[in-house]
Amino acid sequence: MTPDPHHRRLVCLTGFMGTGKSTVARLLARQIGWVHVDLDKRIMEITGRSIPEIFAQAAEAGFRKIEHDQLARIVGETVEFQKRRIVSLGGGTTAQPQNVTLLRESGAAIVWLDCPVEELLGRCARITDRPLFRDEASFRKLYHERQASYELADFRVESNIEPLRVVEQILALGIFPKVTA
Ligand code: S3P
Repeated sequence: MTPDPHHRRLVCLTGFMGTGKSTVARLLARQIGWVHVDLDKRIMEITGRSIPEIFAQAAEAGFRKIEHDQLARIVGETVEFQKRRIVSLGGGTTAQPQNVTLLRESGAAIVWLDCPVEELLGRCARITDRPLFRDEASFRKLYHERQASYELADFRVESNIEPLRVVEQILALGIFPKVTA
C-alpha cells in the first residue's frame, strides 16, 4: 500500500508552558506505538543540568542554542533511522524561526495545544521549575507575544481539557496512519 502523503513520521507538539505537551505526547505515543521524545528532558540528559541551571549559567541565549542543536539531532535521528516520533517541544521552541524552518524542512507536522492564559496561570503557579515563569504580569505578556508563533502550527487543538481528550482530538486530525490490528 502506498503511504498517504498526509501521514508524517515526525509530529511535534507546541504550545505555551503548562498546556500539557509532555503528558499528551506521552499518552499519544503510547496509544499509537510511536517513540516519545521530550525536548527539555533530552536537553537535561545531554547536559546533565536542569533547565533552571542552564538558564542561570548560560542565560536564555545559551539555552536556545542547546535547544536548537538537540532538536536538529532528534530530526536527524528520525530521518536516519526511519523512526516515527512524537516530540514534545518546549514552550519557546517554535518562537525561534530557525526551529520552525528545521521542522518544516523535515516534513514534521506541528500541532499547537491551545489553552486560555487563565488556566495556564493556575497550572504553572503550582510548579517552580520554569525560569520564564517569574510573575503573573510577565507570564501574560509572554503568552500574548508567543501567540503569533503558535499560529504557524499546522494544526490546533484545545488543551483546556483532560489530556486523554486532547489525545483524541489529535488522533482525529488524520495525520497518523490507521492502526490495523
Ligand atoms: C520555555 C518553556 C519550558 C522550557 C524552558 C523555556 C519557554 O518548557 O523549555 O523553560 O520558553 O516557554 P515547557 O513549555 O515544557 O514548560
